[in-house]
Amino acid sequence: MKRTTPVIPAEDIQRQKEYCAELRGRNAQRPVPPRAYVDTYGCQQNEADSELLRGMLADMGCAIVDDDQGADIIVINTCAIREHAEQRVFGNVGALVHGKRKNPDQIICLCGCMAQEPHVAQRIRQSYRHVDLVFGPQQLWRFPEFLRRVYLRRGRVFETDQDDGAIAEGLPVRRSGKLKAWVSIMYGCNNFCSYCIVPYTRGRERSREPGNILQEIKALADRGYKDITLLGQNVNSYGKDLEGGWEFPRLLEAAAAIPGDFLLRFMTSHPKDATEKLFDVMARCEKVAPVIHLPFQSGNTRVLTAMNRRYTREQYLDKIRALRARVPNVVLTSDVIVGFPGETDAEFEDTLSLIEAVRFDALFTFIYSPRKGTPAAELDDPMPKEEKSANFDRLVEAQNRISLEKHQAYIGTVQRCLIDGAGEDPRNNLTARTAGNRLVHLSGDPALIGRYADIRITACSTWALFGELV
Ligand code: SAH
Ligand code: SF4
Ligand code: F3S
Repeated sequence: MKRTTPVIPAEDIQRQKEYCAELRGRNAQRPVPPRAYVDTYGCQQNEADSELLRGMLADMGCAIVDDDQGADIIVINTCAIREHAEQRVFGNVGALVHGKRKNPDQIICLCGCMAQEPHVAQRIRQSYRHVDLVFGPQQLWRFPEFLRRVYLRRGRVFETDQDDGAIAEGLPVRRSGKLKAWVSIMYGCNNFCSYCIVPYTRGRERSREPGNILQEIKALADRGYKDITLLGQNVNSYGKDLEGGWEFPRLLEAAAAIPGDFLLRFMTSHPKDATEKLFDVMARCEKVAPVIHLPFQSGNTRVLTAMNRRYTREQYLDKIRALRARVPNVVLTSDVIVGFPGETDAEFEDTLSLIEAVRFDALFTFIYSPRKGTPAAELDDPMPKEEKSANFDRLVEAQNRISLEKHQAYIGTVQRCLIDGAGEDPRNNLTARTAGNRLVHLSGDPALIGRYADIRITACSTWALFGELV
């Protein structure tokens, strides 16, 4: 299949596997295998990347552990989306200096989106000298090679050059769950929303071959995975770099045709290219969960234009109408930013009125955080912090009311749910998810975990439903 974005040659992936084998041989000579800990910040894409990092570490003969206490290798997979996320990473990386003093052979690695920001790499180089290895997301497949270089004591390794990225297939993966799995279908982002750092950290949009994706989903379904989420920064751009007319709705429909008792989800959809074709597939395919995360960011068209989102308030509302006409029970979630530079109180009111008009099931609300190197960071931002916080609080309050009302409408209904884990409250020892991914607490036999069951909803809160087995 012809394509316009590069794929890493199989022999280069093979070479990384040989580095893994070399390190495995080396680790086998130790009395106990080295303990490796991967800490993940940020989005599902990072969660999926961490499963690859753990896969490579396991392939190198490491024991994967759940916390940094006593770890021989620590990998911090970072997120750069907001200032707050970065501060947490700097704090936690700073604190690792004590452990390293006790265990000077410990290797500390920092990867993910922050590693791809020049000012971060510079700060780590100068002020966090206990960090041995720094590499950006596009270099992830070369982790064994980098770690080997650190082992061979060639000093600290920094691989943070700007990189548009390629597709790496066939990396080992160590999945965190037995029921739910992520499947990346594409990488990178070309949208350059004016506030967002992702296009600078994740490189250009590039799609995996449909055959490889479908094969991965089939293997997951065969192994009993029940909930499979297709991942990309903007899944609706899937296939633009591929020949053969592959686009996201077609991929989704082909995935839904794979035999097995599982549900498919996808994240994230950009409204500008969420099409009626996609909504038709959602309506047509029983295996596609009736849920969509469709970030609107602002309810005001001037702000949307300044954000470079390339749709208007009316176009967004039209999409929702078109979607609900086809999938009436669709669960809708979204992201919104409060306090974009220059957003006025009147413009914020449009965001409030949009959430009242749409009535999302849940909303992820963020206060704007300036990101170095993005166009929005250069804009005048006259609104004081307190005013932004007050608007934020009003938005959260309105959404909490809507979420509660939406949950109340479930009471008395019976939902087919996947029982997916143990709950923390002994009165409700199990958790489950509706097809629309709403959380349900219930009590029952833990042997039911991993099965679908009909649950009658009896009560609710803003954030969850409560029910009993039918
Ligand atoms: N690719 C996804 C979003 C990834 S980032 C999409 O386009 O939908 C997740 C969310 O973080 C965004 O939807 C946005 O609401 C928020 N976000 C991104 N950059 C931000 C910034 N600089 N300040 C505050 N919130 C931001
Ligand atoms: Fe960021 Fe916009 Fe790309 Fe989403 S679509 S990752 S918000 S630039
Ligand atoms: Fe964060 Fe990078 Fe994801 S900035 S949200 S980890 S793409």
